[in-house]
Amino acid sequence: MGPFAVADEYPFGLKALSQPGLRILYCRIVLTRVVKMIVRTPKGRKDVRALWMERGAVKAIDQRLLPNQFKIVTIRTYKEMAKAISDMTIRGAPSIGAAAAYGMALAWQKDVDLKKAAKVIRATRPTAHDLFYAVNLMLTRCDEDLVKVADDYADGIVEMCRRIGENGAKLIKNGDRILTHCNAGALATVDLGTALAPMRIAKRQGKKIFVYVDETRPRLQGAKLTAWELLNEGIDHAIISDNAAGHFMKDDVDLAIVGADRIARNGDFANKIGTYSKAVLAKENGVPFYVAAPVSTFDFYTKTGKDIVIEERSEDEVLCVGDYRVAPRGSRALNPCFDVTPARYVTGFVTEKGIFKPGQFETLVPK
Ligand code: MRU
Repeated sequence: MGPFAVADEYPFGLKALSQPGLRILYCRIVLTRVVKMIVRTPKGRKDVRALWMERGAVKAIDQRLLPNQFKIVTIRTYKEMAKAISDMTIRGAPSIGAAAAYGMALAWQKDVDLKKAAKVIRATRPTAHDLFYAVNLMLTRCDEDLVKVADDYADGIVEMCRRIGENGAKLIKNGDRILTHCNAGALATVDLGTALAPMRIAKRQGKKIFVYVDETRPRLQGAKLTAWELLNEGIDHAIISDNAAGHFMKDDVDLAIVGADRIARNGDFANKIGTYSKAVLAKENGVPFYVAAPVSTFDFYTKTGKDIVIEERSEDEVLCVGDYRVAPRGSRALNPCFDVTPARYVTGFVTEKGIFKPGQFETLVPK
């Protein structure tokens, strides 16, 4: 765990509030105001977003370095932003959306042709729908102050995550053991998270939970990022190898919550590679399987999962663990970054507008 200490107790001391009235009031204050990712540093507690804009430049946590190093990088041009998205300095669908919005704002500030910037940003990662959603939004609002539009967009994501958290927390009972895959936490969503938001809020409501964190090969977003967020939040958890999920689903997991990169109109959805097998295992073992995502992740123009473009990344991510090559020289690898889970495996989609069954998205479609 790098330079950060483990959160021994969540900083707001929920335990101290024994009176029910006080507890409700306290929860309200926490849920409505303090929706920040908590990072513990040697200098104390820090509230921080995954990315934000400051004095004309974008600041972002370099997610490639966590959990060993907590470093904020500065991004000054749309081209630098495109690189930060491609190399996964910034990652996770809603954070990629915010990064795309900020990238367009950086281009606007420097009087760059916005269509040119849009083309470069769109070419970074093909699967996450939020990226395309954000770029299109910026193009339609190009007569306005795009820095403000991008800031509002990022604030909007955080607010959506708060609502997803509140809706999803209703699914979590005291004592539940929850499995998650990849990182759909604050790092992936500017703040708070999608899949992790219900867990954060359940914890803040005083529920005792335990999280099984899939390590998520090849890039290990679960072991590196989700575990880091849960540790900072003081949520009890254990990292499991991806191969162990079936073993634990037999008897130990009460529900699974994952994020999504793109949800097709029929409810098929793309998420980090390995999600599909977890969904099949969940169904086989009678474990409810929920997908938490904001409406910006729904792609109503894509009819089914067959039409979702799956990003392929470098073979090295599979052939190596970090910088260390584990596979024989001469062996090749295949590295699809996402897979598509058919809608029939999904118990419900937890959104900011409520929980929906696959295919019952009529009220979510923008008029
Ligand atoms: O390749 P990544 O790390 O960007 O993939 C992230 C995921 O698959 C997340 O589960 C998804 O983006 C949802 S984030 C709220």
